[in-house]
Amino acid sequence: MRHRAWAGLERQAPVTVEVHVRPGDALRALRAEVLAGLCGDCRPKELSPKWLYDERGSELFDEITRLPEYYPTRREREILEAHAGDIARASGADTLIELGSGSSEKTRLLLDAMRGAGTLRRFVPFDVSERFLRQSAEAVAGEYPGLRVHAVVGDFGLHLGKLPRRGRRLVAFLGGTIGNLKPPERARFYSELAVGLEPGEGLLLGTDLLKSRERLFAAYNDRAGVTAAFNRNVLRVLNRELGADFEPEAFEHLAPFDEENGWVEMRLISTQPQAVKLPTLKRYVNFAEGEVLRTEVSCKFRAEQVEAELAAAGLHLTERWTDAAGDFALSLALKR
Ligand code: AVJ
Repeated sequence: MRHRAWAGLERQAPVTVEVHVRPGDALRALRAEVLAGLCGDCRPKELSPKWLYDERGSELFDEITRLPEYYPTRREREILEAHAGDIARASGADTLIELGSGSSEKTRLLLDAMRGAGTLRRFVPFDVSERFLRQSAEAVAGEYPGLRVHAVVGDFGLHLGKLPRRGRRLVAFLGGTIGNLKPPERARFYSELAVGLEPGEGLLLGTDLLKSRERLFAAYNDRAGVTAAFNRNVLRVLNRELGADFEPEAFEHLAPFDEENGWVEMRLISTQPQAVKLPTLKRYVNFAEGEVLRTEVSCKFRAEQVEAELAAAGLHLTERWTDAAGDFALSLALKR
C-alpha cells in the first residue's frame, strides 16, 4: 500500500499557475465600466456579462444549466459524448487549453478522448477566478497521472496573447460563451486567437444555433425564475463592490430575442423612476420607469455564419458536429 501511494505521488507532476490578473484589476475594470455604461445618456445602459459571475452568480448559472428549458449545456454534452474521439483525432493536439474552464465535466470528456488517442500531454485551464482555477486544476491533476497541468489566470478579453506556447494546442471555448461577444468583439477575439496559433493548431468552439423565438424565450425566461435571480444578482454585485444601493426587486427581468441582431438580450427593467447612489464613484444613476439596463447579449448563430467568421480570421473549419435536434454546434477550425 505504502509503496503504491509513493509511486502515485512520484508520477503526479505539480500543477503550475501563471497569473495575469492583479488584485484590484477587477474592481478597477468594474468602476470604469459602470462610469462608461451607466452614464446619464447611455441608451440602453449596459454592463458586460462577466459581472454576473460572482460566487452566488456562478451557483445560479450552474442551476440554470439544469433547468428543463435551458438546453445548451445538455446539447453540447451530447455532442461531446458522441464525438470527443473524433475531435481528439481530427485536432491531433497534445495540449488542451480551455478558456473559461467552468465546465469541468466537459473537460474530462475531451481529456479522456485525447488520452484514448494517445496524444494527451498537457492541460491548460484558463479562467479569471484564481481560487476556482486552482481547485479544478488540482482535481484534474489528481485524476490524470502524468498530465502536466498549467493553469493560467487571465481574462479572455485581455490576455489571449499570453496563452502558453508549448505543445500542439487545441483551444476549447465551450458553452456558447462566444455568444456574449457582439460581432466586432467576436472578430477581434478570433483574430487575436488565430495570430497566436501555429499552423495545425486550432479552436474547438461551442455555439448555440438559431431556433424558434418561443424556445429561446423559454430558455432565458424560465418558469422557476432562476434566470431572473441570476440577472438581478448583478445588482447585488454592484451594491457589494461599489457600495451602491440598488433594490433588486425594483427591477424586472426580461430576456427577449432580438431578431435583427440575432441575439437574446438579458434586461433589467426599472419598475419605477429611481435614483441609485454609487458612493465610491460619487455619482447617482437615474432610471426612468421602464428604462432598460442590458446585462448580457447571447448571440444565436447559423452554422455557416460561424464558419465564415472563423475563416475571416484564418481559422478554417475542419469539421462541425451538432446534436440530434440541431440545437447546438461544435466547430473545429484549424489555422493553416
Ligand atoms: C454562459 C454565456 C453561454 O448565454 O446562454 C444563461 C449565460 N445567460 N442564461 C448563455 C446565460 C442566461 C450563457 N452563457
